Amino acid sequence: MPRHLLTGEELTREELLALIERALELKAEPLSSRALAGKHVALIFQKPSTRTRVSFEVGIVELGGHPLILRPDEMQLSRGEAPRDTALALSRHVHAIGIRTGPDGLVRELAEHSSVPVVNMLTVGHHPCQALADLLTLRETFGRLEGLTLAYVGDGNNVARSLAILGSRAGVEVRVASPDGYQLEPTADALLTDDPHAAVDGAHAVYTDVWVSMGDEATAAERRAALAAYRVDDALLDRAAPGAIALHDLPAHPGEEISADVLYGARQRIWDQAENRRHAQKALLEFLLR
Ligand code: CP
Ligand code: NVA
Repeated sequence: MPRHLLTGEELTREELLALIERALELKAEPLSSRALAGKHVALIFQKPSTRTRVSFEVGIVELGGHPLILRPDEMQLSRGEAPRDTALALSRHVHAIGIRTGPDGLVRELAEHSSVPVVNMLTVGHHPCQALADLLTLRETFGRLEGLTLAYVGDGNNVARSLAILGSRAGVEVRVASPDGYQLEPTADALLTDDPHAAVDGAHAVYTDVWVSMGDEATAAERRAALAAYRVDDALLDRAAPGAIALHDLPAHPGEEISADVLYGARQRIWDQAENRRHAQKALLEFLLR
């Protein structure tokens, strides 16, 4: 059975920590590995992407491999071909499959029938590749992961869920502050609250994400109203631990979930975090295809 990355729960704590250390090495020497030489990776994008697409495509080439970017209008999947048949056919040509789509069930179905690793590049439920880059950013900033506290403030969405799953595995205490109706389901992986101050007090990192995720556009106005008190700005960041950093997976909406002062300010590590997508995913692909 191939190994997959669908939610992050597939990785043991030891594997996750080793992967982050390997990502640090690859960041220091980006062209040092040819782990994907002669290998092909299909990257299916059923939703828009800037960072995920570019970081996977460039990362795969840096590892000596060949990325195939597949848009919905280019695939029979969009004309009703079964995920099972898509997985069976692609597995005969490529060494791994990445997919960004809505339903988690579609990614699970692809993985079930694929004889090569499947990587979730974002679904409604999860964004594990983002959380890998986020842990790498914490590790390089603080020199450790164990014992850190990360406060996520905003919509209890895919990004929050993946941070809880992978953060807790790595020894990071994850606190998630969201208003009623936008909270994560109860989980042992994170402390849930509706109070941004309670989440941020003493935290090492303060994280936010968009209030209107891809697919949530119909409820944009009510989301903006419900989440208005959950903006990450300098006043909120001042409550965190000395030396705390601000994180955002991007794309950002300055003035909504994050102030422009924080997004471009001295305490953010957001643009490093965007770069770290590539290094973390290279370590992941090395691991899955070894
Ligand atoms: N953070 C993230 O996944 O960005 P993209 O949507 O641009 O890929
Ligand atoms: N929560 C956002 C993340 C974008 C990278 C979304 O799903 O649209």
